[in-house]
Amino acid sequence: MADTTWFRRHIISLADFTPAEYDTVLQTAASFREVLSRRTKKVPTLQGQVVTNLFFESSTRTRSSFELAAKRLSADILNFAPGTSSITKGETILDTAKTYLAMGTDMMVIRHREAGVPLAIAQEMDRLNTHVGVLNAGDGQHEHPSQALLDLFTICTLLDPNEPHLALLRGKKIAIVGDILHSRVARSNIWSLTASGAEVHLAGPPTLLPRWFAEFVSQNSARTSATGDRIPHSGHTESEPSPPLGQLFLHWSLPAALENADFVMTLRLQKERMTQHLLPSLREYHQQFGMTRDRLKLCQPHVKVLHPGPVNRGVEISSDLMDDPAFSLIAQQVTSGVAVRMALLYLMGSGRV
Ligand code: NCD
Repeated sequence: MADTTWFRRHIISLADFTPAEYDTVLQTAASFREVLSRRTKKVPTLQGQVVTNLFFESSTRTRSSFELAAKRLSADILNFAPGTSSITKGETILDTAKTYLAMGTDMMVIRHREAGVPLAIAQEMDRLNTHVGVLNAGDGQHEHPSQALLDLFTICTLLDPNEPHLALLRGKKIAIVGDILHSRVARSNIWSLTASGAEVHLAGPPTLLPRWFAEFVSQNSARTSATGDRIPHSGHTESEPSPPLGQLFLHWSLPAALENADFVMTLRLQKERMTQHLLPSLREYHQQFGMTRDRLKLCQPHVKVLHPGPVNRGVEISSDLMDDPAFSLIAQQVTSGVAVRMALLYLMGSGRV
């Protein structure tokens, strides 16, 4: 196992993650990827510990991936399903969390449609003087740290399979395309990718990528405000001095974001937004922002496409591109997810914090 030092009890956001923390996660995940390639894909690391999955919102891959990760580490896993729980009888979320605490839970993995729920539970666990670690598995439109970390691991292992590390992304161009405004995946990825020194290009229709988003990012990143880093808008870059870390650019049309990109991250178009009149039609969205083979020609020849899933085939990405292993990293993302989540549970549960 990699020599790692970890001082974080909870993982709620990547906004203040340090480069050393990213590298620790990447190194640890690489060790677990090796474990997962063995015939016996299990280690006794978390034997006797209890991991509770508290998913108040639907999930296929994140919930299953945390469950498998906990099992591969030999932890006992409890899966909570809101529809068949006492939540339906009026129990509060905090009381549900405290019930699992009383059963001896060591780590809670929490997803909720409201931003801030994992943080509130983490604060309550600290207030009660427990050592329970809380991992945010997606809260509203806020953050999804384990998704961004598995995206990072997927990209870095492609660049260096033996030693994936953050600096491999320095100077790479990464486009994030789609419903940025409502995406917790985009928010977490913005922190990790800009921390790596990559150039991050956001692209989407103005209703899903408002101009104020750049200000939001600069105000909410501990790192960017500490270093005085700037976030230039597309087309206003020449007069900007080069900031020390990665830059963020905003685009309201796709070609400039894709030009010479090394990686393209597409985001699920949340169809529920249609009812809020934020988009004319799915067909028009696909015409303007959908990833297709033709559009890939604007990128580097070695470009790869990512998507956190679930995918609306033919909307954010064309169906044939999604299934083409020469370009699509979607299956690798799912595979990486188990190793990365093993790393996170291991680091949080290894008794150091
Ligand atoms: C994402 C999520 O739930 O935030 N999916 C995931 O965790 N794999 C993205 C989405 O639902 O669009």
